[in-house]
Amino acid sequence: MEYHQEEMDELIASLPKEKAFLAPSLCLYQNFWFPITVLPNIITFQRHFKAKDNDIVLASQPKTGTTWLKALVFSIVNRHRFDPSNTLLLTSNPHELVPFLEFTLYANNAKPNLDDFSEPRIFSTHLPYSCLPESMKRSNCQVIYISHNPLDTVVSSWHFFKSLVQSENQPERSMEEHFETFRQGITGLEKPHKVLFLKYEDLKEDVVAQVKKVAEFVGLPFSLGEEKEGVAQEIAETCSLRKLKDLEVNKTGKFMPNFENRSYFRKGEVGDWVNYLSPPIVARLRRIMEEKMSPFGLEF
Ligand code: A3P
Repeated sequence: MEYHQEEMDELIASLPKEKAFLAPSLCLYQNFWFPITVLPNIITFQRHFKAKDNDIVLASQPKTGTTWLKALVFSIVNRHRFDPSNTLLLTSNPHELVPFLEFTLYANNAKPNLDDFSEPRIFSTHLPYSCLPESMKRSNCQVIYISHNPLDTVVSSWHFFKSLVQSENQPERSMEEHFETFRQGITGLEKPHKVLFLKYEDLKEDVVAQVKKVAEFVGLPFSLGEEKEGVAQEIAETCSLRKLKDLEVNKTGKFMPNFENRSYFRKGEVGDWVNYLSPPIVARLRRIMEEKMSPFGLEF
């Protein structure tokens, strides 16, 4: 069902709202806070998306390693079409190759024809599981979820917003101010069927092992020949921060009007938070992490 502007205005008027940083404001929809500007996209996505059983959906909270995961999964799935010398990653940002459902494909009330995408289709989303379209939940599509220690994620998102405010000539926020909004946005997780949970930290520790795990999960395990040729190692190298950060497309291009491609590639170090977070912030965040994450076995 297409939405009409009047219907959307009425819905937005009826929802609780909060002022937000760098977004017109947030509204509480299906138990989660979303920027008001993204809500129409989410509703169109929920109403129109038709999942296929072989779809692969990359799910993440912002700044948890989404870009890296997109590069890796794209390379794993398309390894028989491209090799490191001609991969599309050389000329396109990973966000162009694996588009966001709610920010890109269903933006501006678009109802894209996704039937012609080459299969398996790979999409990404920052939406929590409970907000995904029914068609996706009912299908056998596979979800790969990446998590990242919230202490590093808060630092990563602080740097990301800093680069954004600089490009929009807005005043910078202190880490304490940033932490307050971050803290409010921490969400619970649901552990559904057919989900592969990855940790950014495990990718950092042994990316080749994780590449093999993802390949198995999506039903495309590496053959003995590929093992001998070191294809998983090649993929890991092609998708490394050092390689991607150095590509012209990622140094100069833009992804969506406000987001510079380079702001997605920073330091990529686990534990960098010790250089930025004060002990009281660390203690507060640790308490929240314990409360929200330990029931899901996500201990950092
Ligand atoms: P830092 O800010 O800690 O450096 P997202 O892609 O979800 O926006 O997450 C961005 C974080 O992932 C940034 O972390 C960024 O540097 C890191 N990142 C991006 N590409 C990466 C890659 N190929 N390898 C490792 N980390 C990467």
